[in-house]
Amino acid sequence: MGSTALTLYGQPHELLETDFFNIPSSDLQQDLDALVCNPPYTEGDALPHWYKERINTQLEKTTGLEISARSPLHAYFIYHSRAFLSPSDRAAFITPQSFLSRRYGESLKQFLLDNYAIKAFVQFNPESYCVFDNAETTALLTFLEAKPDSETGGETRFIRVDEKIESKTIRDAVENGEPGETEWGIINRVPQSELCPEKNWQALFDPVEIDTSHLPTLGTLLTIHRGPTTGEVNLFCLSQQEVDENNLDEYHLSRIVRKPSQIDGYDYQEADWKEARETGEEVWLLNPDQIPGVPNTIADFKQELSKAARREAPEGSVIRDGYSEVREYLREGVIEYGLSDTSTFSNRPYWYRPRRKDPTRVLVQNASRDQFKFILNETDIRHTSACYGFYDITLSETELKALLAYLNSHVFEEVVREYKQTRDGGFDKIEPDQLEQVPAIDPPKMSGETVNTLAGLFDELRQTTRKNDDCNPVLDRINVVLQQEL
Ligand SMILES: C[S@@+](CC[C@H](N)C(=O)[O-])C[C@H]1O[C@@H](n2cnc3c(N)ncnc32)[C@H](O)[C@@H]1O
Repeated sequence: MGSTALTLYGQPHELLETDFFNIPSSDLQQDLDALVCNPPYTEGDALPHWYKERINTQLEKTTGLEISARSPLHAYFIYHSRAFLSPSDRAAFITPQSFLSRRYGESLKQFLLDNYAIKAFVQFNPESYCVFDNAETTALLTFLEAKPDSETGGETRFIRVDEKIESKTIRDAVENGEPGETEWGIINRVPQSELCPEKNWQALFDPVEIDTSHLPTLGTLLTIHRGPTTGEVNLFCLSQQEVDENNLDEYHLSRIVRKPSQIDGYDYQEADWKEARETGEEVWLLNPDQIPGVPNTIADFKQELSKAARREAPEGSVIRDGYSEVREYLREGVIEYGLSDTSTFSNRPYWYRPRRKDPTRVLVQNASRDQFKFILNETDIRHTSACYGFYDITLSETELKALLAYLNSHVFEEVVREYKQTRDGGFDKIEPDQLEQVPAIDPPKMSGETVNTLAGLFDELRQTTRKNDDCNPVLDRINVVLQQEL
């Protein structure tokens, strides 16, 4: 394909059909000035294990860095390319932007800081401009100039392109762009010495202008945990119809909210669960105590099933008791979903019950195209790994509501940009520990009057959504209070 593309564009070329990681820099016949690279977008877990291990070990050795085994293939191309360049040579890459915000990217960012003057990153805004029509991915250009380890880089430009523009405009921006908004996007300049590999560099394309340096992190007020993983939602999460069809006793079940995206407003009440049950959503979690006659591992359970199928089961082994239906449901499920003993199942005391976790006071919708949502749970309903929950809350009820007004505000939407990751098509995600790092208002240190006002506004916000009215006037008032407070 490379050869076809170059031929079509009339560019003379010499095609090397070999694995890039097998080419040592000493193989080059002549000195390079620059390197332009469109590396494969292949995700790390799509590579054969042995191959991944080989290139990871190879590049950890040459870079001296600890490289996450979750790195996609393009990251290794960036690491390996440096060997072909001498100081002041240039390199440009097109890759997904994920390394700017994801964990695996930390060592790559460290590598760029140590080895290059990072001239510019050009981000094609995933929310407004899709570079690849038929691929669900983001696009980022990285412009580098090789430097000796000891030298410091100058300024790095973070350029966000919101719409299709001439490539010359991009080149001019990379070389001379002045900070500020342009007709087609935005340019920011940051001294390279201020770039920190652990931080999310995606936010630097449009820096957050709210000063949060005096605020504590959310993690000082509470802890945030993902709900329990079921290992197989089809088996463990059931609708009322499935419960009825299988004659399952409620004694073996717990009520759940399956997906926070199913919640419209800012609170969750008994009536919402009942409505979800009526509309056929999965509202039950299989959560049984130990069941007599069901082995603790799937492997043993399957063995028992196959013995029974070969009629080797001892006479009278089909026990008829209050557990017959749930036992039958598990048997059918194991076969239908082809379950095997994965670590999710074997890390539990017995495989057929997800880890038990208390209901949470606040449900967090942690992945969204709009804004993350923080929902007050007014029931004892549990949740699964589809959302996070708040635990160990050190706040009073009113203080918690004031905090919820902040977390659901436009101010927070802006503040969280530095901590979240934007994936394909503008889809935002945040991990529990990243969310704990986000600066938050500190209700116990605020005046009682402000806390009451914010808590009242949160109540107003949730009532307004329930009535399907316009929430913007309430959100605007929350903003005014927060701006005075910050
Ligand atoms: C995004 S494509 C770019 C192709 C080429 N630059 C072009 O314009 O047609 C990435 C290319 O890298 C190739 N590739 C994948 N792994 C490779 C490796 N280890 N060594 C060399 N090439 C590899 C893929 O086969 C694919 O052709």
